[in-house]
Amino acid sequence: MSRNLLSADADLQLVVIGCFCIGTNQVDLTHAAKKGISVFNSPFSNSRSVAELVISEIIALSRQIVDRSNEMHQGIWQKVSKGCWEIRGKTLGIVGYGHIGSQLSVLAEAFGMSVIYYDVIPIMPLGSARQVESLEDLLRNADFVTLHVPEIPDTIGMMGTEEFSQMKQGAYFINNARGKVVDLAAMASSLESGQLAGAAIDVFPKEPGSNGPGFNDSLGEFIPRLHRCKNLILTPHIGGSTEEAQRAIGSEVATALTRYLNYGTTLGAVNFPEVDLRAITTQDERHIRICHVHRNEPGVLKRINEILGGHNIEKQFSDSKGDIAYLMADISKVGEEEVEAIYTSISKTPANILTRLLCESSFFSFFLPSTCEELELNRQIRYGWFGIEI
Ligand code: NAI
Repeated sequence: MSRNLLSADADLQLVVIGCFCIGTNQVDLTHAAKKGISVFNSPFSNSRSVAELVISEIIALSRQIVDRSNEMHQGIWQKVSKGCWEIRGKTLGIVGYGHIGSQLSVLAEAFGMSVIYYDVIPIMPLGSARQVESLEDLLRNADFVTLHVPEIPDTIGMMGTEEFSQMKQGAYFINNARGKVVDLAAMASSLESGQLAGAAIDVFPKEPGSNGPGFNDSLGEFIPRLHRCKNLILTPHIGGSTEEAQRAIGSEVATALTRYLNYGTTLGAVNFPEVDLRAITTQDERHIRICHVHRNEPGVLKRINEILGGHNIEKQFSDSKGDIAYLMADISKVGEEEVEAIYTSISKTPANILTRLLCESSFFSFFLPSTCEELELNRQIRYGWFGIEI
């Protein structure tokens, strides 16, 4: 959804975009926000899938399963136990104890592992896990180190030559987070020297744009070294790629879209301030919810409150993000004849980007047909049975 495509939308009255995935770089988020179009995605629906993959990698690495399997595919029978270990009793070091890291912590303990974790914020441990003071503390004590941090300036290159040298001799390293967090040339050196006994890498600083051949030195001169490393599991960014995660993404994004359209809620929006109000219920008589997207300028609230001043404002919440601000307000006991004036006055304020009025369904029939048909809004009943745009 480029700037041009979004700009061509004047007639379509696009209100919201759902990205049924994690990333949102396919949408010009800033331009969408300036046009009053909120964007939702699903950043955490695949956490469990990633955590399970890591568990499988921990076991596969400590038993050298991928190497044994590759040998068998080449017709080689090589039964060995040297350098192969149970994971029970070993220490897992989790870097980033968020959605994925904390799920993984629970799974690892069920396998009899001890869990330590490092995070930039204090986070309550699950089970018997223990937060450590520094990354170095974690690297020096873990048998397996796994990364679950976002890609931000602080984390780019957080694992380099020095950090790998701090890891225990014969430890294992796993990265399913983001490719730029690790210096893969440094990791290859640690594997080649035997400092690391194995590694699993799912994400890369540069990744091919499509399936097929392409995982080669065009993505980095260290790639051929990775091809040759023993006990190195390489996967094409599949950490979150499961049927369950896809289903969860569909459900989560669809729910976010419905909540925004029906209730005005922007919780989880990528490019809007996150604002929510308790739902209007059937007990709330003649309530109107005002959803007002506007430019983040001084004096907007004053103007809105002047317009709403004669009404009973039941609840109101406003927040801003960059140039965009969003106000939600519920007013009660609104007279039929007042609705159009409220809408017109707010949508004519200088900072207005988008104004929507929502009401409970029984109130909607109260308005029909006279007032509603006169409003300069899309008058169809588009948004389900509860919140109805008027
Ligand atoms: P999250 O946001 O829930 O957790 C990240 C944690 O990292 C937070 O607790 C944060 O405080 C911590 N953190 C931030 N900077 C840190 C630093 N410098 N040192 C230590 N901790 C730091 O994120 P979530 O959902 O757990 O995802 C983690 C990573 O996994 C993200 O990079 C995400 O993009 C990636 N991911 C990869 C997938 C794949 O297919 N391989 C699928 C899903 C997510």
